[in-house]
Amino acid sequence: MNKIEKLHLAYFSPSGSTEKIVKTVASAIEGLPVETHDLLTSASRKKEYNFGRDELVIFGCMTAGKLFTLSDEIFACLHGDGTPFIGIATFGNTYYGIALKETLERATNSGFSVVALGAFVARHSIDPTFGADRPDAKDNELMKDFGRRAYEKVLGGDLTLHTQPKTGWSALEMGNKVVAYREEHPDEPYALPPSYKSKEISNACIKCGRCVRSCPVDAIDINNKTFDLDRCIGCWGCINRCPMHAIKSTSKEMADIMKMISDMPETRLEPEIFF
Ligand SMILES: Cc1cc2nc3c(=O)[nH]c(=O)nc-3n(C[C@H](O)[C@H](O)[C@H](O)COP(=O)(O)O)c2cc1C
Ligand code: SF4
Ligand code: SF4
Repeated sequence: MNKIEKLHLAYFSPSGSTEKIVKTVASAIEGLPVETHDLLTSASRKKEYNFGRDELVIFGCMTAGKLFTLSDEIFACLHGDGTPFIGIATFGNTYYGIALKETLERATNSGFSVVALGAFVARHSIDPTFGADRPDAKDNELMKDFGRRAYEKVLGGDLTLHTQPKTGWSALEMGNKVVAYREEHPDEPYALPPSYKSKEISNACIKCGRCVRSCPVDAIDINNKTFDLDRCIGCWGCINRCPMHAIKSTSKEMADIMKMISDMPETRLEPEIFF
């Protein structure tokens, strides 16, 4: 038997869905003190987070068929000591590709014992018509069941991952030219060229500063209403968090990709879990 003294929730969640999903999974684990680590801002990733063997980490990250470029920085500040780890990738009902495989590799390299992995569907942060209303009640039950089973596994002293997450994309996914590029360059981190990230801020902006405070890479100059597109990772957080809906993508390339995806028949994808 294993005794766990504390539960840690760590997440990178530009538009907020991943945070909710991590918290839903965690809600199945009762009786432990909980500490949260929101890794969105650059300041949060300058700290070091050290976890012991008698602690449990639930980590969630938004994904794009792969982890974002920032994942290296994120995992560089997380340090396990054989610490049990539950990894979560969220995706917008299109595909999660190799994101869980990458989560497993990075978490293992950072000293964690990965006991469970789950890919869960969220509303798509670029086009909310994909994964609309996800996660729903059925997803929430699956998440809680996932959390419960993972915790029981840890308490039982089994810190081995017995099933491996998938390592490629499906045929449907291969219809997408961005995926095709990623398939050819699997070791490259996910990064979009600047033209895919072009945005503008309309006169509806009230200069509340919310977008500036939540940009993971400090790429927004709100006084001049400009974006440093070389720094921007295209996470869509500023667009989704702006209370005035004042930020819009102006990227023709991104609009074309989303049109291509929306032209594919959308089927409801289900969460995938691995123990
Ligand atoms: C640039 C970008 C690329 C994305 N690529 C994919 C994708 O390839 N497949 C998919 O299903 N969802 C994709 N998504 C949707 C996100 O994975 C999904 O909305 C995610 O859960 C958002 O998490 P958050 O709300 O915590 O930011 C993408 C989102 C962004 C911003
Ligand atoms: S969040 Fe919206 S309203 Fe607030 S400063 Fe940014 S663009 Fe302006
Ligand atoms: S400027 Fe880029 S990196 Fe910053 S919040 Fe907006 S989309 Fe994300």
